[in-house]
Amino acid sequence: MTGGGAHPGDDGASPGDTAAASGDRGGWSGWRAAAERALYGAPPSFAAPGGPGPGGGSAGFFLREAPAAHFRTAVHASPLFAAAVAVLLVRTDEALGHPPVLDLVDVGAGRGELLTGVLAALPERVAARVRPCAVERAARPAGLPDRVAWSTDPPPGTTGLLFANEWLDNVPLDVAENDDTGRPRHVLVRPDGRERHGEPVTGEDAAWLRRWWPTSSAPGERAEIGRTRDAAWAGAVRALRRGVAVAVDYGHTRDARPPLGSLTGYRDGRQVAPVPDGGCDLTAHVALDACAAAGAAVPGAGAPQLLTQRTALHRLGTDGRRPPLELARTDPAAYLRALARSGEAAELTDPRGFGGFTWLVQPVAVPSPLAAEPARPR
Ligand SMILES: C[S@@+](CC[C@H](N)C(=O)[O-])C[C@H]1O[C@@H](n2cnc3c(N)ncnc32)[C@H](O)[C@@H]1O
Repeated sequence: MTGGGAHPGDDGASPGDTAAASGDRGGWSGWRAAAERALYGAPPSFAAPGGPGPGGGSAGFFLREAPAAHFRTAVHASPLFAAAVAVLLVRTDEALGHPPVLDLVDVGAGRGELLTGVLAALPERVAARVRPCAVERAARPAGLPDRVAWSTDPPPGTTGLLFANEWLDNVPLDVAENDDTGRPRHVLVRPDGRERHGEPVTGEDAAWLRRWWPTSSAPGERAEIGRTRDAAWAGAVRALRRGVAVAVDYGHTRDARPPLGSLTGYRDGRQVAPVPDGGCDLTAHVALDACAAAGAAVPGAGAPQLLTQRTALHRLGTDGRRPPLELARTDPAAYLRALARSGEAAELTDPRGFGGFTWLVQPVAVPSPLAAEPARPR
């Protein structure tokens, strides 16, 4: 399925990207355009001085490379993550009144690993009604079950759960940096990673910074202009007729933005300098409060929630408590299995790791299945 949805690169021009403002000559361009080419493909005019990056070729990093070959997400850390998403889908199904077709849409699906994990974890009575769809810019991998649809855009009219794990951090954005006088300017970058200042930030980008990421006037302070992510998230929420949309990412909110930004690269399991030559992942943490506001503005959307992954997984029944020692005596094999499970759950909920990720939960025309548990009587 194609057409209609939001692609990070298409939501209107940003002054940082226009040739006139960004000086897109000699290989200089805004970070958004540079990351778009590096991650998702090069237009014919693009040529990195010195040839293609270490990844080789110009197809775009994510079109060539499986994400799991370069970094580990919660999806790959443990099947308990897919099991928790399955619980969320079951609760969404209940909130929807068990529709005859229940959509499960995974945006930024990688190679479809989360979808297959969720399908395997669902009770049969729900699995039989699920219509799974991967939304991905990379091509469909071989071996995926036929029932999984593969699309470049979230299917409009979705009724069910739309889940996006570590998608928004890979939606390219422009970067601003204060010059010596403290004025925010677009940062321009070459495919070898060298940066310089471009035009001052004005217009909608400046308005976004004022609202969501106000900087001090300290020279060198940076900000990442999240308008593209807001638009991408709003596009995903718009595709949902009824149900729940969830984005999970490293996030920050207005009260605690990183003063030097968070743009970085990953290659072969290691953090590397963010060089937009197609040879590494380029990622920046997500201003999820801004995305939440953009999603909540979509007609029909309810109140969004921002939760830590730790809280979200606890509410879905995943926790890292160790099994009772008594079990080791009565059933040693079951004890060992439960111990392994609790170790994996502890990793997914560790506040210094995956547990510190943020879940942005956006219900549309249903109550949130992740609302706080009512306090239990003591
Ligand atoms: C960090 S990987 C995450 C993969 C998987 N969700 C996981 O958690 O392991 C991000 C993925 O999002 C995909 N992606 C980025 N922008 C996209 C878009 N606009 N539409 C569909 N997929 C996109 C990339 O191609 C990449 O495979």
